[in-house]
Amino acid sequence: MLFEKGNAAKQWMLEELDRRYGKAPARILDLACGNGRIWERFLKTHPNIRVTGIDSDERAILQGKTSYQGNTQINLQHFDAQKLIDGVYDSVMAMSAIEHVVDHPAFLRTVWNALSSGGVAYLNYDSGHFRSNNVKERLMVPISQLLALFGAQGSYMKRVDDKLFCDQIRKQGFNITDIKKHNLYPLKGFMRAAEEEAVKTWYEFENKLNQMYLPEELEKVMWSTTVVVKKG
Ligand SMILES: C[S@@+](CC[C@H](N)C(=O)[O-])C[C@H]1O[C@@H](n2cnc3c(N)ncnc32)[C@H](O)[C@@H]1O
Repeated sequence: MLFEKGNAAKQWMLEELDRRYGKAPARILDLACGNGRIWERFLKTHPNIRVTGIDSDERAILQGKTSYQGNTQINLQHFDAQKLIDGVYDSVMAMSAIEHVVDHPAFLRTVWNALSSGGVAYLNYDSGHFRSNNVKERLMVPISQLLALFGAQGSYMKRVDDKLFCDQIRKQGFNITDIKKHNLYPLKGFMRAAEEEAVKTWYEFENKLNQMYLPEELEKVMWSTTVVVKKG
């Protein structure tokens, strides 16, 4: 089933949750959730899933709260994911997120603290901002890092180094169980407007490539990385 039309990595993570929980109840924490739009289709087909979404952008959270008004399956909160969060969750998600977070070890501590024993987290980041031909986007990279030095973290972006991030993950105590690469460049942008049938074919093709090649080989052409980690 198609849960997300324009991003193969997010579709894969949601399919993983679908395989893991099916119709069973589960508590999911979505860190750096934005306005939570991504959950719209998924929640309709998974009535026993409860999502808590956290984001440091108050406007995005307010927007999400308005569009999900009356929906008891999702609870959106304005909070910094670099600080510990109340509650215990079966899975933690971070989608298109890690490259926007300043302090990765602090973020990983939050994930560790929130996950139940045996729980699984999907930690995803994109490298499109750093490879794009868009001059404004390329300029924003150093500017956003400079702003973060003075405490303005909202626009922050920094390319995530796979090896360094994996070292930080292991240092926190997690086991890395999988690494997937998605979002073939430049197909992703093109497919945003495509028919569902074409999108499904694209997703199947990317999953096939992940079976055939190593993440470091796919890194050259695929711009989104998902590290799957397990607690215990
Ligand atoms: C590219 S958006 C991704 C939003 C959403 N996960 C999605 O896939 O549509 C990155 C998000 O990370 C959030 N963010 C960055 N640092 C954060 C932090 N320390 N705590 C919570 N959210 C954070 C930003 O506010 C932004 O909404």
